[in-house]
Amino acid sequence: MADEQSDSRTEMKQSFFVKQKLIDSARTTFQLLSAVLKNVTFYPEEHPVLLAAADKLLSKIEELLEGRKEAAFYLIGGELFFETLSVPIDQSFSPIMEQFAGRDIGGIIFKPGIASVEIIRFACMVSKESAFPVGKEDVNTLIAKEGIGHVTLHRALLVDKQAGAAIEAEKKKASDIFKDAVEALKEIVQAVYVGKAFSMNKVNSIIQVIVDSVLDDKDALMGLTNIKMHDEYTLAHSVNMAILSVSLGTYLSLDKPQIADLGVAALMHDIGKVTIPDEIISRQRKLTDEECNQVQRHPIDGALLLSNVSGVSKLAMVAAFEHHQYGENGYPEFEGKYKRHPFSQIVSLADSYEAITSSRVYYANHVSPDAAIRILLKNRGITCAPVLLQAFINMVGIFPIGTLLKLDTDEVGLVMHQTLDLMRPRVLILTRFDGSEKETGEVVSLVETMGGNYKRSISGTIDPNIAKIDIKKYFD
Ligand SMILES: [Fe+2]
Ligand SMILES: [Fe+2]
Repeated sequence: MADEQSDSRTEMKQSFFVKQKLIDSARTTFQLLSAVLKNVTFYPEEHPVLLAAADKLLSKIEELLEGRKEAAFYLIGGELFFETLSVPIDQSFSPIMEQFAGRDIGGIIFKPGIASVEIIRFACMVSKESAFPVGKEDVNTLIAKEGIGHVTLHRALLVDKQAGAAIEAEKKKASDIFKDAVEALKEIVQAVYVGKAFSMNKVNSIIQVIVDSVLDDKDALMGLTNIKMHDEYTLAHSVNMAILSVSLGTYLSLDKPQIADLGVAALMHDIGKVTIPDEIISRQRKLTDEECNQVQRHPIDGALLLSNVSGVSKLAMVAAFEHHQYGENGYPEFEGKYKRHPFSQIVSLADSYEAITSSRVYYANHVSPDAAIRILLKNRGITCAPVLLQAFINMVGIFPIGTLLKLDTDEVGLVMHQTLDLMRPRVLILTRFDGSEKETGEVVSLVETMGGNYKRSISGTIDPNIAKIDIKKYFD
């Protein structure tokens, strides 16, 4: 067992570093391509400067091609991808990104056997504004005519549609995972309620699925944490917390088994609440002392309950016991100085964030996700260690998924994905801000530039309740 665990840890670390190295390599390759495109406008085809730039790019492409049938770059909504990996870009990339967008090119694929001379010919073609006219001959026929046989292009529209379909498919999967998790937890809650024994098998396997899904694409599941289910609030709250905690564990590059333990801890943190009546939990009125005591016992009850179940990670018990153990009103009371386990701190942090963003939905306390981040920042050092809070903010973004933004173009954008720039997420354009609702269905990245300047920037956030925009339907 220990060997198996250390094997999967090594594997995970390796894959993390391999991925980072690949992203760096792809970024450098694209920078070198950008240099060739620039040089081709200054020097004739045989010039040593241009030849040297092309050779440099060639060796980088060959490096990327090692063990691959092709090296594929995609440009989607102003962002750059190598295969499915997002490649970080800054404003220095805007000339090349705009050049390809202007030629309606959304995908560039290099094939093994490519030569320097093809690179130069390709750059010459791209440099011409009239290259690749839309609706005329097929782009690949055009480049083949120039003797370029090891580069394939894709039209922008086609790539966007494919990416859109992939995101759609991913969304479906994510909502199924969410529902399965709610069901698994519901079974346990029902068993605990009637005092029946339960098995952790289902929970462990659903957490495994969540971990794999988050490792694959964090944003697909994170979008779902915005859906606040009125009828099954407590269950959805715990599933949301599992997603947030697993995402943070992944963001912190914890080992896969540890991330899974953290997910179980988050999913089960409130299990001690099962016997408390709903009307007390929802706190619609001031609680009596007796009721208050009852609520404050849930960390102890939860830990005790979990200690009797086989296959539960010890950390889940610790997190259940410690998740309200902070601040002046923390409970259960504890004498002396007490240092909570980092996992308990992550669960507390996800709990606070979830509670704040839910209050927006349930109690009409109009707290936007970005305001929730500000509240967390105000409580810095209390709910959890400042370093964990910083990592959490870097992960969810300053404008978390589901935030409604007012853009400087007078459009309204709904945050769908984070990009590597916290101030420039990818948004779904919903409507003009003059109130005429017009769903364009267009997903754009705020990283996108035109003439070297950003096409759209954030000028503020909008309260969906006031703007009467139902954001839920975009995540269902
Ligand atoms: Fe709790
Ligand atoms: Fe909770």
